[in-house]
Amino acid sequence: FDFAAPSNEPVLNYAPGSPERAALKKQLAAFKAEVADIPMYIGGQEVRTGNTVDIRPPHEIKHKLGHFHQGDASHVKAAITAAMAAREKWANMDWEVRANIFLRAADLIATKYRYHMNGTTMLGQSKSPYQAEIDSACELIDFLRFNVHYLSEIYRQQPVSSPGVHNRLEYRPLEGFVLAVTPFNFTAIGGNLPTSAALCGNVVVWKPANTQVYSASMFMKILIEAGLPDGVINLVYASGPTMGDICFADPHFAGIHFTGSTGVFQQMWQTIGNNISKYKSYPRIVGETGGKDFVIAHKSAIPDVVVTALARGAFEFQGQKCSAASRAYLPSNLAEEIKTKLSAALKTMKMGSTEDFGNFINAVIDEKSFDKITSYIDNARKDPKAKIIAGGNYSKTEGYFIEPTVIEATDPHYTTMCEEIFGPVLTIYTYDAEKFEEALALVDSTSEYALTGAVIAQDRYAVELATKKLVNSAGNFYINDKPTGAVVGQQPFGGARASGTNDKAGSQLNLYRWLSARTIKETF
Ligand code: ALA
Repeated sequence: FDFAAPSNEPVLNYAPGSPERAALKKQLAAFKAEVADIPMYIGGQEVRTGNTVDIRPPHEIKHKLGHFHQGDASHVKAAITAAMAAREKWANMDWEVRANIFLRAADLIATKYRYHMNGTTMLGQSKSPYQAEIDSACELIDFLRFNVHYLSEIYRQQPVSSPGVHNRLEYRPLEGFVLAVTPFNFTAIGGNLPTSAALCGNVVVWKPANTQVYSASMFMKILIEAGLPDGVINLVYASGPTMGDICFADPHFAGIHFTGSTGVFQQMWQTIGNNISKYKSYPRIVGETGGKDFVIAHKSAIPDVVVTALARGAFEFQGQKCSAASRAYLPSNLAEEIKTKLSAALKTMKMGSTEDFGNFINAVIDEKSFDKITSYIDNARKDPKAKIIAGGNYSKTEGYFIEPTVIEATDPHYTTMCEEIFGPVLTIYTYDAEKFEEALALVDSTSEYALTGAVIAQDRYAVELATKKLVNSAGNFYINDKPTGAVVGQQPFGGARASGTNDKAGSQLNLYRWLSARTIKETF
């Protein structure tokens, strides 16, 4: 049963006076007028524990949007039991019926719940309307639709047969449950990690970050309305260590689909290794774990292209994309012009609540992130190897606001050139414009992570040289563009080195990890 390639969901722009702007504003007001009581979803049941955690907009911390019910070990166990009870029927369901549930969820978001998804993302994660639209509407819809198409292509791939022999590959789901652990920064990743595994016939226990529960639970309700059977995806809010202790010790654990920090992923991998003899099969371990993403400009670059790549690449969604530009290498012939223009561009970026659609910069996700990001700024202020050339101010009185900040480093190995900050902080280093190849070697040797990167150049030989020399420095490599904003179906997304297992989200390469093929030979 084939599903043709879909088109990408068109992006709405919420221009002043547009009906979509009015509809989104109305939905935001409705969310703010209520106090949401958010349960877990285990085996199709709403589960409330009374042990609640408040949800507040990061840009307006005095306002309570609602609370969610926190689970403990017993809820994680119940989720695994529910998943395993649902497994056989789900795995054996006709695949086009399974697929249609996810296609229907995509249609529900596109036509009925777009403003609910964007509204929960804007309020719960402090995304601007445009950043929410490309994430919780378009990218999520695209993941759901494109994965169905890609899986239908995989199912079609069959071995050859010969006279008297019929061979076929049966693409079974894994024999157990999959754990999906999802981050705050993309609602679409939150939706993709459990559903891509489930689409392939797997049952899932899904743990979103606490700071994503508001939008994740909205998506869960949409999946249920779309017809997802009880127990196929179980949404549980327990602490990371509790989830890990229970799930990784369970003999039915079959795989993890993770997006989060490198440290947590490594710990998980070790725990899984320690438990390896318990499992029926070797678990699939799939993770995307951050980045320290670069932009390198060549002496032939158009300065305005560099400025746009940096202003948007480093500061959209407050730099909290794993793909965000966070280190830039500028050629000495253009550095002054780029720095001046970038500083001027940052001054035009308004900062504040997501409910004012004119704000480009909103708040960072929580106090822990705020304190971590601002400690890098404070250290740079004191360090002779660094100079803050734009921004640098912050406040957490109303919400977690940090100005878009540019640090200039005289040492290419200065801390903020190397460590992932996950906030609106860009560090730049100026290299000798005549030593481009040396600069490329520097970029690569600083790429402990290897998620995204960009080269900006007009000279075609420079583009080719950068593409070849940086072959392992980024899983997503951009030429004359910012390093963010991969579109499902167009730029499959992921990186290697400390950035993850590079099982490209939004492609067949990812779906293969949730399938365990059986070869069947029949002679007749
Ligand atoms: N897929 C997201 C991007 O490319 C992380 O920006």
